Amino acid sequence: MKQRFAATLLCFATLPAIALSADLEAGKAKAQAQCAACHASNGNWNQPLDPSYPVLAGQNADYLRIALKAYREGGRTNAIMAGQAASLTNDEIANLAAYLASLEGSLHLKK
Ligand code: HEC
Repeated sequence: MKQRFAATLLCFATLPAIALSADLEAGKAKAQAQCAACHASNGNWNQPLDPSYPVLAGQNADYLRIALKAYREGGRTNAIMAGQAASLTNDEIANLAAYLASLEGSLHLKK
């Protein structure tokens, strides 16, 4: 019984690790190659090139992931971002979201 309990605990303990297994380096490379042109000037993800391009640095990873899937699948309509998200795989989206969320951002929670 004790052993089973320990095994169950172990399962739960490893779950977050699986959920967090996004590849930050792959996300960084993809972001620099495809997204920086609008969302980062001179490598600064807190300074998009135009005020109509949102700041992505430090944004919540789930928010970014859900937004990118919504652009890809049409739940959120924007001609520019639909084109950007169209060919992204779920893994690429997870990596991009994890990388952008990991950056120090000027966004903050307003309470
Ligand atoms: C050609 C310019 C351009 C490129 C390149 C681009 N974006 Fe965007 N992005 C935009 C614009 C414009 C918006 C605002 C769209 C809207 O109003 O919904 C936006 C919005 C977003 C949002 C929603 C942010 C929010 O606060 O809701 C995310 C997430 C995003 N982009 C991620 C990316 C990622 C990741 C890439 C690279 C794969 C990328 N973008 C490439 C122009 C661009």
